[in-house]
Amino acid sequence: MIQIKDNYFYLNTKNTSYIIRVLPDGTLNHCYYGKRIPSENLDWHNLFIPHDLTAPLKVGDEITTKDALPQEYPTAGRGDFREPAVILSGENGRMVNELAFVRYAKYEGVSHLEGLPHLDTCKGGVDTIELVMVDRVTGAEISLVYTVFEDCDVVARHTVVRNITDYPVKIHKVASVSLDIEDDGFDALTLHGAWARERNLERYPLHHGQCEVSSRRGASGHHSNPFMALLSREANEFSGDVYGMALIYSGDFKIGAQLSQFDTVRFYAGLNDDTFCWILERGETFTSPQAMLTFSQNGLNGMSANFHKACRCHLGACALKQAHPIVLNLWEAFYFDINEERVLKAITQAAALGIDTIVIDDGWFGNRSSDKTSLGDWVINREKFPNGFDEIVNECEKNNIKLGIWFDPESINQISDLFKQHPDWAICIDGIDPVESRNQLLLDFSKHEVIDYIFSKMSDVVKKYNIKYIKWDYNRNMTDNGSNRLLPERQGEHSHRYMLGVYSLMSRMRKEFPEVFFEGSSGGGGRFDFGMLYYMPQIWTSDNSDAFGRMKIQYGTSIVYPPETISAHVSVCPNHQTNRTTPFETRENVAQLFSYGFELDLNDISDETKTVIKEGIQKHRRIQSWLADATFYRLLSPFSGNTCAWQLVSADKKYSVMMYAVGLVDPNFSGQYVKPMGLDPNAIYVIKELGITVSGAVLMGAGIPVKAHPRDFDSQLFTIEQL
Ligand code: GLA
Repeated sequence: MIQIKDNYFYLNTKNTSYIIRVLPDGTLNHCYYGKRIPSENLDWHNLFIPHDLTAPLKVGDEITTKDALPQEYPTAGRGDFREPAVILSGENGRMVNELAFVRYAKYEGVSHLEGLPHLDTCKGGVDTIELVMVDRVTGAEISLVYTVFEDCDVVARHTVVRNITDYPVKIHKVASVSLDIEDDGFDALTLHGAWARERNLERYPLHHGQCEVSSRRGASGHHSNPFMALLSREANEFSGDVYGMALIYSGDFKIGAQLSQFDTVRFYAGLNDDTFCWILERGETFTSPQAMLTFSQNGLNGMSANFHKACRCHLGACALKQAHPIVLNLWEAFYFDINEERVLKAITQAAALGIDTIVIDDGWFGNRSSDKTSLGDWVINREKFPNGFDEIVNECEKNNIKLGIWFDPESINQISDLFKQHPDWAICIDGIDPVESRNQLLLDFSKHEVIDYIFSKMSDVVKKYNIKYIKWDYNRNMTDNGSNRLLPERQGEHSHRYMLGVYSLMSRMRKEFPEVFFEGSSGGGGRFDFGMLYYMPQIWTSDNSDAFGRMKIQYGTSIVYPPETISAHVSVCPNHQTNRTTPFETRENVAQLFSYGFELDLNDISDETKTVIKEGIQKHRRIQSWLADATFYRLLSPFSGNTCAWQLVSADKKYSVMMYAVGLVDPNFSGQYVKPMGLDPNAIYVIKELGITVSGAVLMGAGIPVKAHPRDFDSQLFTIEQL
C-alpha cells in the first residue's frame, strides 16, 4: 500500500514500512526502512549533522551537510562525497549532478521494464509510485520507480533516465537502488564461489569505506552472486533484523554497502559502471535493471522466505508454476560419446523407473566430439544420430517420456561452419587474437541478425522433434568486450546490449514454445540469478554433483532462491568431480527437497539401487505436490559445522520433510536433536521413520533425535505429516 501525505510517501507492506520525504530544496530524503510503523509525520525525526568542512545544505531552519543526509538517489559533486547513485554529463560535459523532485505518478500494479526481466505478475496488493526528479545540471529527468509487493514484504526499485534536453546525455553510472540507513552494527553477507563450489556464505562486519561484490564477466558469475544482505550483529538464521538486496539481472553488476564517516550506511545495487556507459540521444529513455529489497525481523530464514515468495508469486516464468519434471540428464553418463543407441536404451530404462524427461546434453550437433568444435552449428550430428532424432522421438512417445536437449546458444567455436560463414559475428577485437575459454568465443548478441539466426536454428530443432525441455547453457565469461557494430564512443554500451540481446532471445523462445520447460546453466551455476529465473524456472546449480559438495552449494543458493529453482541431481560414485564416495541414500536425500533428477548411466546401476530410485521418485512426487508453496528452513549450517539440516513445510502446515546429513565424522559422535520449524504447534504429527506421533509444539521445542555414530556422509530424511 502506498500513501501520500503532505511531503511524505509511505510505502507499506505487511510487515515493513519505507518512508520518503521531499525536502524544501527538492532533495528526496530517505526517512525510514524497517519493521512496519504507522504512517505519521516524521518532521521531528532528524539527525542532521552540521559540519564545517563539507558543503552546507539548508533544510528549513537547520544547516546540515549533504554528506550525512540520508537520500533516495544521491549524486556526485554537490557536497555528498559518498558513492553516488548516478553520474550524467550533458552539454557542458561536467560530471556533477543535482536532483530536485518535480512530480509523482502512482498506480496499481507493476511498472513494465521493456526488454528487462522484472517482477511482473500481480496477485493483488501491488502498487507502484514513480518519483520524478530533474537534474539541475544536465536538465535530464530521472524517475525512481518503487513497486510495493505487500504479500512478500518486497519493495522493487529501478531507475529511468529520460533525455528531455536538446543535447545527448551520457550516462556514466545509473544505480537501480541506493538506500541510506543508520548503521546497526551491520555484518554483510554475500555468496562467493568458483566453478563447482558456487554460493558459499561469507559474513563479515562492515568497515569504513566500501564492502562490494561485482561482476565484469558478462554474467553474474560463479564467483559472486548479485545479492547482499545486511544483518544486525546478533541476527542469525532464526531471528534478528536483516535487509536483503538482490538484482534481477544476469550481467555485469555491482552491489555494495558503504560505511561513511558519520557511521551511516549506503546500500546500493545496479549495473557495474566499470563496464558501462550509455549515450542517450534527445528524447530517448534508459531503464536500469530492477532490484528487490526486503526486510525481515526473522533472521536469514525470514529474508529468504520473502525472496522466495516474491520469485514464486511475481517473477515471470517462476510465477507460471510449470510442473518441474524429474529428468535423467545424460551428460555425466556419456559426455561427448552420446549416440542414438545409448539414448534409446536410456529412454526405456528411465521410463521403467518413473522418470519424466530425458535430456540429451552437449555433443548432439555439428561435428561435436569434444569441446573444441561446432558450437553454433545447431544441426544434428548424423554419425551419432543417423536417423536424426526420429527414432528417439518415437521411443519417447512409446514410453511416455519427454525429450529435452542442450544448447549453448550464445557461443561459437572457431572450428565451426558458422564461424567460417560469419567470423564477424564472434566478439573479437580486430588485430589481436580473441581470448578463448573452453575453446569457445561468444557471439555478439548486440546484433539483431545474430539473434534472428540462432532463434531460427534453435526453433527448427525444437519444432521438428517436439522438444519439451531446453537446457540453456552459457559456458564461458565475456572477454574482448565490445562490438564491431558500435561506434567508438558507444563501446561502453556493449555488455548491457549483449544482455538485452540474450533476454530478447529467451523471451522469443519462451513465447514460441510456451509448453517447453527451460533450465538455465552456466558451467553449472555461473548465472544463477533472478534475471535468468524470469525466463527459466530452474537452473543447474553446479557442475559439482557430489552430495557433500551439494550440501553447501544448495544451502547457500537457498539463501536467495526458492528450492524448486535449484536443480539437484543424483549421480554415480566415485563422484566425477571430487572422486568422493557417498552413500546412495545421501545422494538422494540431499536432492529430494529441490528440483530432483538424475545424472548417470542407468547401465551402471544395480537392480537393488533401481528399486531405491523408484521409491525415491515416488517420495519426491509426494513432496512435489506441495513444494511450490512450501517454506524452506535452513536449520544447521554446513558452513559452521560438520552437519547440515534443512526442512520444507507445506503452506497448510500439514506436510513437512526434514533432511539431516553429516560430513566426515569424528569417532563416537553422539548424534543430536534438530528442531524443526514452521509446524502447527497444536497439530499432531507422525514421523514415519521414527514411528512416533507427537505434537508440533513438542517437535519444535524438543527437537528430533538424529542417529548417533553415523558413518561419513550419512543422512536421514524425516517425513513429518499431520495425523
Ligand atoms: C556445462 C554444464 C554441464 C554440461 C556441460 C556440457 O558445464 O554445466 O552440465 O551441460 O556444460 O558441455
